[in-house]
Amino acid sequence: MTKSEQLEQVKQKIIDDKVCSTLQAQAMSLVFGSGNPDAKIFFIGEAPGEAEDRSGEPFVGAAGKFLNEMLQSINLNRADVYITNIVKYRPPNNRDPLPEEKQQFWSYLVDQIKIIQPRLIVTLGRHSLNCFEPAAKISVVHGKPQSVTLFSPSHKINKFEVILLPLYHPAAALYNGSMRKTLIEDFKQIKEISNIK
Ligand code: URA
Repeated sequence: MTKSEQLEQVKQKIIDDKVCSTLQAQAMSLVFGSGNPDAKIFFIGEAPGEAEDRSGEPFVGAAGKFLNEMLQSINLNRADVYITNIVKYRPPNNRDPLPEEKQQFWSYLVDQIKIIQPRLIVTLGRHSLNCFEPAAKISVVHGKPQSVTLFSPSHKINKFEVILLPLYHPAAALYNGSMRKTLIEDFKQIKEISNIK
């Protein structure tokens, strides 16, 4: 089975398992993820907003435009990377995702990572970071690559080692001058890290 077919199965499983059915009932789309199934770089945001819910694609609103600009600044585009969110349905009124919502989507996110087998996971914002490192503070660890081990009972490969780069969320940095500067600076490391064998 190709990686795209395996990803399609995970998407279908989210529907069949009725994950977060309360969110699903209020959302227009399941925003599963987009990009290259062979990507070396895997971005994880928080949850879809209004534009993403309407289009079914992650990061297509203002934060997504900023993300695209940062990708271009390191000579990458959306077709080179894979982008998803922890929570795959829009929370009403763009509220923060709840701990139980993040928990319910976790094993499907790990399955996506294990199918794609990226070299680098880039977490965007504290919600995404804290799924991997619950006690980490983004203001302290942003821009500092770390090694993480992932486990998933639902996939053949039980253990998977990957490099994690925590970054500020583009939506938070968009209108905050100093955070924006820091994010642009941290972002530059992506290419270098993802090229390490
Ligand atoms: N913010 C996110 O975290 N994800 C999106 O897809 C859009 C905005």
